[in-house]
Amino acid sequence: MAIDKRKVVYQIYPKSFKDTTGNGVGDLQGIIQQLPYLKELGIDMIWLNPFYPSPQRDNGYDISDYTAVNPDFGTMADFEEMIATGQELGIDFMLDMVLNHCSTDHEWFQKALAGDQYYQDFFILRDKPTDWVSKFGGNAWAPFGDTGKYYLHLFDVTQADLNWRNPAVRKELFKIVNFWKDKGVKGFRFDVINLIGKEEVLEDCPINDGKPAYTDRPITHDYLQMMNHATFGAEEGFMTVGEMSSTTIENCILYTAPDREELAMAFNFHHLKVDYKDGQKWSIMDFDFEELKSLFHTWGEGMSEGNGWNALFYNNHDQPRALNRFVDVKNFRNEGATMLAASIHLSRGTPYIYMGEEIGMIDPDYDSMDDYVDVESLNAYQIMLDEGKTPEEAFAIIQAKSRDNSRTPMQWDASKNAGFTTGTPWLKAGKSYPEINVETEKEGPIFTFYQELIRLRKEMPIIAEGDYTAAYTDSDSVYAFERHLGEQKLLVLNNFFAKEVELTIPAEYVDGQVLISNYADTRIANTITLKPYQTLAILKD
Ligand code: GLC
Repeated sequence: MAIDKRKVVYQIYPKSFKDTTGNGVGDLQGIIQQLPYLKELGIDMIWLNPFYPSPQRDNGYDISDYTAVNPDFGTMADFEEMIATGQELGIDFMLDMVLNHCSTDHEWFQKALAGDQYYQDFFILRDKPTDWVSKFGGNAWAPFGDTGKYYLHLFDVTQADLNWRNPAVRKELFKIVNFWKDKGVKGFRFDVINLIGKEEVLEDCPINDGKPAYTDRPITHDYLQMMNHATFGAEEGFMTVGEMSSTTIENCILYTAPDREELAMAFNFHHLKVDYKDGQKWSIMDFDFEELKSLFHTWGEGMSEGNGWNALFYNNHDQPRALNRFVDVKNFRNEGATMLAASIHLSRGTPYIYMGEEIGMIDPDYDSMDDYVDVESLNAYQIMLDEGKTPEEAFAIIQAKSRDNSRTPMQWDASKNAGFTTGTPWLKAGKSYPEINVETEKEGPIFTFYQELIRLRKEMPIIAEGDYTAAYTDSDSVYAFERHLGEQKLLVLNNFFAKEVELTIPAEYVDGQVLISNYADTRIANTITLKPYQTLAILKD
């Protein structure tokens, strides 16, 4: 079923959005309270990270009960109120489905451990572990009680991979998806969904930590089709997005082309690895513009030609803030934030805004390792020390790369804890909150620019539906692309650097009109000088 390509999604990390009870953890009532703010921004749908019961080893991605609300976040009645209030305002919800693994606290795993064979077949148990490396460090297998067997955990040791080969597992998981669909949600984000298809015989794979052995396996497409048919497939306009770890364009076309009946769109992360030295996350390096530009072009054109559909984003709960990675944030925060926004909101795909992005939030600038909570960061810090890095070196890397960078409390105002909670926040607010917060930013250049981008996508079919082709591919500072729909054309120029750059404008655009720019008074002529971090979109009818 076709989705509405004019829609824009806003991601809320519930734990850090708005606390109304004073327990230091955000809650569903906090989301209800702030829906009018999001309505003002203009978004259509909210993706919520997991709010289900969980021991919180991985902040809710370790689910112990799939069809309930964690009491820290509220009740099922709050959830229903949230859906209903959203509907009144024209805002729908997309829930996070973590179906690759469950918490080892889940009753399925507990029953399996206690010897129940029916539930043992829910997990991936083997007599001998393979050499695969867990995404959170260490070997991906752990002893299964005292049975002498091992269970697979591609993530934390408390996140046991589920056995999708077992039809009883698929039946349970589809039931969960339907449970939430029947509650009125209009979208799902499927966590690491391209890892669900495991081979029958699992083998050592020394390449890339074992990823090729379990990523994008062909059977994954079969499972997605089964899920589509058993759950959301017949719902008009239902929004589904798969989080695709280390994937390929070929697979993402298969995952998202409408006639495949799998998902509506896919997240990939290649463009967020352009500041990884030698492909390693735990390193520090300036971003590689050539790489970023070429990835955007290959994916933009590849998905356009193959009739696939991208989810467009720079920020989420697993990424440091894009402003700290791609922009001279000290001198050009406003210009950089608006340019980054235009570079995806005018592109082909569905744009996602991560909470706080619309007010230009930045990394928290913590002073000590004690401020970090995330299991991945804590593990990585220890591994770096073990490998011989000094505490200062390891800390500098955590500061730049930790997932906690984006999980800090939403900055509502300049009062204590950024107006997020009256209690003690589960994670400290970023240092910038006295200056950067909703109160100071709401009439400001970043928020209002986002409002305009969202409005333009709704009004202009060329933005929502047009094709994508690369432009100015030789430029060493401008990422540019064209969109086409019928006779109409749109040229989007994005200067990714703090220096001015002169460009010759193609003759056909010289009498075009400025659709949007983050600098006032730009006149179109044969040559244009783009200012630092300028974005400029020229429409030719
Ligand atoms: C996804 C989530 C991440 C989580 C992991 C394991 O990558 O975005 O936050 O830790 O899956 O569920």
